[in-house]
Amino acid sequence: MKTSPTPEWFYLTTPIYYVNDIPHIGHAYTTIACDVVARTRRMEGKPVFFLTGTDEHGQKVWQSAQRLNLSPQVYVDRIMPRFRDLWKTLWISNDDFVRTTERRHVEGVQSTLTALWEKGEIYEGPYEGWYCTHDERFWTEKDVPGGVCPDCGRPVEHVSETNYFFRMSRYQEWLIDWYRSHPEAIRPESRYNEIMGFLEKPLGDLCISRPVSRMPWGIPIPFAKEYVTYVWFDALLNYITVPRSGPGGEERLNLLWPGNHVIGKDILTTHAVYWPTILKALDLLPPSLIFAHGWWTVDGEKMSKSRGNAVDPVVYAEKFGPDILRYFLMREGQFGHDADFSDAALIQRINADLANDLGNLVSRVVAMVQRYFPDGPFRKSQGHRTPPELTQAAETELSEIPKLTARFEFHKALSVLWNFIGLLNRYVDSKAPWVMAKDPSKTEELNGVLSDLLEGIRLTSVYLAPFMPQTAIRIFDTLKTDEALSSLSYARDGVWGGLPESLTLDDPVVSLFEKRNPDGSLQKEARPEKPEKKERIPVKGTPGTASEAMDEAPPGPEAVPPGKPPIDIETFQKIDLTPGTILEAAPVPKSKKLLRLTVDIGREKRTIVAGIAGSYEPEQLVGKTVLILANLKPAKLMGVESQGMLLAAQTGEGVSVIVFDRPASPGAEIR
Ligand code: ME8
Repeated sequence: MKTSPTPEWFYLTTPIYYVNDIPHIGHAYTTIACDVVARTRRMEGKPVFFLTGTDEHGQKVWQSAQRLNLSPQVYVDRIMPRFRDLWKTLWISNDDFVRTTERRHVEGVQSTLTALWEKGEIYEGPYEGWYCTHDERFWTEKDVPGGVCPDCGRPVEHVSETNYFFRMSRYQEWLIDWYRSHPEAIRPESRYNEIMGFLEKPLGDLCISRPVSRMPWGIPIPFAKEYVTYVWFDALLNYITVPRSGPGGEERLNLLWPGNHVIGKDILTTHAVYWPTILKALDLLPPSLIFAHGWWTVDGEKMSKSRGNAVDPVVYAEKFGPDILRYFLMREGQFGHDADFSDAALIQRINADLANDLGNLVSRVVAMVQRYFPDGPFRKSQGHRTPPELTQAAETELSEIPKLTARFEFHKALSVLWNFIGLLNRYVDSKAPWVMAKDPSKTEELNGVLSDLLEGIRLTSVYLAPFMPQTAIRIFDTLKTDEALSSLSYARDGVWGGLPESLTLDDPVVSLFEKRNPDGSLQKEARPEKPEKKERIPVKGTPGTASEAMDEAPPGPEAVPPGKPPIDIETFQKIDLTPGTILEAAPVPKSKKLLRLTVDIGREKRTIVAGIAGSYEPEQLVGKTVLILANLKPAKLMGVESQGMLLAAQTGEGVSVIVFDRPASPGAEIR
């Protein structure tokens, strides 16, 4: 028996999924989580073997094939690619993909069965009791009062037949002792406790055969021609048949074993009870880890085919991009707990975390570098002193991310990374590079601040890479650093200071993520016209911003002092206020105060001239959703027609535009 519990290799597996239907986000969840861990471990310099695949035998698959009038092999050949291709779409970096109908697996299962049979670990015996076809499991008389399966509630059938049994019961005491001395082997702790509770009851032997007369679709048992292998016994063995197959297989298994299995909570008993006892009988160690994660519901409801609410990851990956789905699934729930999938939650994450926090940071920093250092490559600052809070955050906080990921605490890992992104955004705002850019004596400082920001963005994408590999590549490409995903290393690339000495950011500014409307459409897309309001009474005043009306334009009759006379609600309702997203911003030629903005107000795009140039740089504004007065009569300012007014407060230092506390769609009603 192998003794070392800490192999040099890290062997990680997903469940192999039934091909009785196409994949849904539950399957994507487990596989993405494993991919994040695998990528993290590789970046730590560990050799990783990451295995996934499809479970193609058994009753469920057989019935699905029958429903379609197809032979089971034709059926599984058709469905399997849906899984294999989905993993490509989602950038899953598995090292192998196993199908249980493959020869290497079938032969592996058969030789294992023969070995156990020869060792006396399997015996032939009578079976009489109740069988649930759906769950493919036997029940005793007392389990099925009323003749229905206690698990799924479907009718059970009485069977009386000879079968083959694995002597699982003889390992009960050993398994309890093993788990007592290895409490970390099942995570989270609640699942460990569940299994310890389960093991308090006597463990029976495991029926590992099905008569061909009842279930012809399975791996034939070599020593019992009229039987096929029970699908679970067949499926669990994939974790060892794959490394073992091919030349040098035994050695490979020794290098890899014991493995780490990530599963959903639904299949805990098979993995934490059946599987280690089978391994014990084969003189192999139990798995290093079984992590049983929680369950996704959809809009608060159980996801199921009959409800028609299964979320198709292919559709979501196509619509939003694979990285967004990866991010959402890893960020939204806590891995060991249940979580709920909803479009609203997804869109909230896209607009707030991705478009606002990360996307804006990258686009505004790149735009500033291009704008303030337009000639030749941007040279990294040499003499500048980076604020210690940035270097310290990189050193102490970012370095926690791989540790959290290795413990499957994905949401925490991402929250640490987003704290760092927040720090960088605050650094932009506090340093106000657009102010420095106006003062030639501050060029060096500006160069230093932008160097810090580029370095911060580079580091962000290193730590983001396991979660959002495609986004990381896009950021590396934008920065023109030559990091390649396959050779990324935390030790080399994950520390402050790796930015190349000189960068040429000559491509147009990337927009990493587009904001979305509640219906999932792009906020920048033209949306159907809103019905015209009956009364579009022009509000008196001057287009632009409120502050500008005081500043550059002659005060109209409405430029009244504070403490205006009360108005009734009808008067207020005549004012067409709406959120508007600033798509473009540029100075108005020859004006010190005016900026010309292109603003999406939902029903159309408007040009708005605003007197905020003294307080905002154009690139600070792009992407912001601000409050617009949309039914102000158009007016020309410095030759440009303004089709509305951007509202802002006058502050001691200039003006402050009104933004929204939470994402608000252009055109949304203001009440
Ligand atoms: O059980 N939420 O395959 P399976 C989260 N072939 N995860 C979910 C989920 C949900 N709503 N629904 C499914 C089998 N999953 C066997 C496994 S392994 C030797 C054999 C995920 O297609 C989760 O990982 O029913 C769960 O354990 C797995 O899909 C079940 O997949």
